[in-house]
Amino acid sequence: MIIGSKLYFFENLPSTNTYAAKLLKKNKLPEGTVVYTNYQSAGRGQTGNIWESEDGKNLLVSIVLFPSFIIPACQFLISITLSLGICDFLKRYIPACAIKWPNDIYVNNDKIAGILIENSVMEGVIESSIAGIGLNINQDKFISDAPNPVSLRMINGTNLNLKTCLNKLTSDLDKKYNQLLAGNFVQLTEEYVSQLYRLNEWCYFRDQNGLYKGRIISVTSDGRLQIERRDGKTGNYAFKEVNFIL
Ligand code: BTN
Repeated sequence: MIIGSKLYFFENLPSTNTYAAKLLKKNKLPEGTVVYTNYQSAGRGQTGNIWESEDGKNLLVSIVLFPSFIIPACQFLISITLSLGICDFLKRYIPACAIKWPNDIYVNNDKIAGILIENSVMEGVIESSIAGIGLNINQDKFISDAPNPVSLRMINGTNLNLKTCLNKLTSDLDKKYNQLLAGNFVQLTEEYVSQLYRLNEWCYFRDQNGLYKGRIISVTSDGRLQIERRDGKTGNYAFKEVNFIL
């Protein structure tokens, strides 16, 4: 077992990603070290957003990885691996979930988990990757202006034990990470694409030229989202270059 080989728990922290980065600077950590907490006073989301999580209700986890076997141009494989691991965990409790590109985890049209990956690249090598996961488990109400948060409890009506969930999550992530280590890049990418939110569904998107109807057909090896338009032309988008109209 790599992911979860060492666990650091704190009652509260500003951010598990920030703490894991500090720990890594000072110490030689084994790959797969997990830092987790009950509460973050400054939980960080994508693009400078805050990550809301009520004290003791959800999983707030950062995992230290050393994926030096992946070239930086293919770093999206880390997102793929983690997204699939989280979906495997969720499918223990609910029949279906989907990955909203690039790495939000959705149940129907609501977001149940988010991932914040912070890579350190030196001389063309990914020296370390801190993979932060916020996974909503028992929270009933969300107060931030996040548009569509949801938790397992809001879906199933039952409370889950967080430590049990953490053990299952790390086990599911570890299985996927072993597939990455084995070099199963094509298989992982195909599985990721097959689980994409709105795959092959004609729906509205907005890019720099405005609103249009299209359908997601795949992702490129550098993680761009491929959307086909009604006229048959295909656009490849980097993060933030296209918005889903929900
Ligand atoms: C997103 O915006 O979707 C990404 C959210 C990532 C939140 C997690 S919670 C654990 C880890 N520590 C942080 O400060 N952020 C990530």
